[in-house]
Amino acid sequence: MTSSPKSITITAPAKVNLVLEILGIDSAGYHLLSTVFQALSLHDELTFTSASSTSLELVNNVSTGLKIEADHNNLVIKAKLALEAYCQRELPCHIHLIKNIPAGGGLGGGSADAAAALKGLNSLYDLHLSEKELLSIAAELGADVSFGIMGGTALGSGRGEKLSSLPAILPDHKVILLIPSRGLSTPQVYAHWDKMAPAKRSEAAGKAQQLTELAQLSRSQNSELLALLSNDLQPAAFELYPELAEIRQAMLQAGCLQAMLCGSGSTMFGLISPRTAAAQIDNMQQKLSQWGQVALTGFSDYRSRPQ
Ligand code: C5P
Repeated sequence: MTSSPKSITITAPAKVNLVLEILGIDSAGYHLLSTVFQALSLHDELTFTSASSTSLELVNNVSTGLKIEADHNNLVIKAKLALEAYCQRELPCHIHLIKNIPAGGGLGGGSADAAAALKGLNSLYDLHLSEKELLSIAAELGADVSFGIMGGTALGSGRGEKLSSLPAILPDHKVILLIPSRGLSTPQVYAHWDKMAPAKRSEAAGKAQQLTELAQLSRSQNSELLALLSNDLQPAAFELYPELAEIRQAMLQAGCLQAMLCGSGSTMFGLISPRTAAAQIDNMQQKLSQWGQVALTGFSDYRSRPQ
């Protein structure tokens, strides 16, 4: 008698950085950050099924962004290899990946998928690795993969891999994503930041810490929180892609409470008050659609646990 294959499905949420502050550069050329990550409801979905050999099947629901391939360069496969190296055993499986997060937009989709692979295989193969162990493997895979393990809202330092969980910030607000036709490359945006005059490139000094302190107070005003949102990579991205500055203005004019670059871009996100009527949000989406693809989502407060 053969037993039926075991399967597990994991969601991999997109993220934005509510604050992204660059503090310096480490010896490997990576930028040291103080950042507040926030997971979104928009997510990819990965199903892992035990199998005798490994395969990756991709269903791409996204028409914008970089083309991603179901091959060994996919961060999901890299995550599986890193986990196999850590556990010193093979973990063959069929991986079904449904992509809803545009690639190359600064929304951390590839990193979230890699984190989901670590969590999914930990569970499928009953590896019983702790969150700490998963975080240490994640940190080797990319700056944002660790946050994918944690989810919710978190303060990140180092390259973004040293995390502490935070209470939800502006939890009921809706998020409008504007995905322009052109993507931006993460290394290129960081390299452009390096070349900019110091006075032009630092918008976020001390704001991640201030936002963290406010988040920990139960009575902070939304206006105070909104005023702290900032991203040091934004001026660099705007110089590389000037239309993004126009998009930001259009989002504010359409009624967003705040509008900002997602990570290293090129996606922009805008926050919408929880009191805004559905018809008004439809109207905003329509107005903004001339600038690119528009998607409506929200913040996710789901704080994941290793399974
Ligand atoms: O870690 P990840 O693969 O997402 O980073 C892609 C590139 O972005 C890095 O090779 C580096 O050039 C740049 N980067 C950086 N500092 C960070 C994150 C990314 O310089 N904290």
